[in-house]
Amino acid sequence: MSLFDILKKNTTKKNEPLNLSWLGVDMHNHLIPGIDDGSKSLDESVELIRLLHELGLRKLIMTPHVMSEFYRNTPEMIQNGLVQVRLAVADAGIDIELEAAAEYYMDEIFFEKIEKKEPLLTFGGNKVLVETGFLSKPQILIETFFRMEMAGYQPVFAHPERYLYLHQDTELLDSLAERNISFQLNLLSLTGYYSKPIKKFAEKLIDRGLIKLVGTDCHNIRYIEALERLPREKYYHKLLELNLMNPAL
Ligand SMILES: [Fe+2]
Repeated sequence: MSLFDILKKNTTKKNEPLNLSWLGVDMHNHLIPGIDDGSKSLDESVELIRLLHELGLRKLIMTPHVMSEFYRNTPEMIQNGLVQVRLAVADAGIDIELEAAAEYYMDEIFFEKIEKKEPLLTFGGNKVLVETGFLSKPQILIETFFRMEMAGYQPVFAHPERYLYLHQDTELLDSLAERNISFQLNLLSLTGYYSKPIKKFAEKLIDRGLIKLVGTDCHNIRYIEALERLPREKYYHKLLELNLMNPAL
């Protein structure tokens, strides 16, 4: 291969437009307006959904935060939000399938919800998206996953690459990997959007074969702008070879 060919190849890769049609479904985003730290208005939601549709996605599962102190979103509030977004998106003539679930913050209140058998918002059958704080490991981490499974749910661990407590704790990673927990990577982690260590750990999770789902975790336009860098990333291309659950959702 001549130097010219190499230069040409690199340039092509750099400018390759992002096309997410291979993925089809995004199962983690904050596009129901006004109920968490995501989209702030119905207009903003419609615009973000239009852009995600233009990137090739055919379905979005919207997952507002449910966090006892900050976002006390109930299933009713989320379902009402879904109805509003569906109407506005249909009005705007965007042909995309919309569903809603939630991103539950793992705390005592969430634990009680499971214990009290309060119905949780699921997607893809019995899947429940759960996040934790970024710095320290919740005491109830393994126990909560265990109780979720006992209650018939399939836990989906939101963006494990972002949890700094997991980066050095190989034992914890191994014990989570042994359980029936689906790891969900944020696409933007592969671009270094959050930090370099998070990017490295995301790559490690892909190499270990632990990633079963990916999501945009889109909160606003900055996320979509940053997504455009993805085709330049070697590990983005590795994702295309994985047998992800997204397309079947
Ligand atoms: Fe999120």
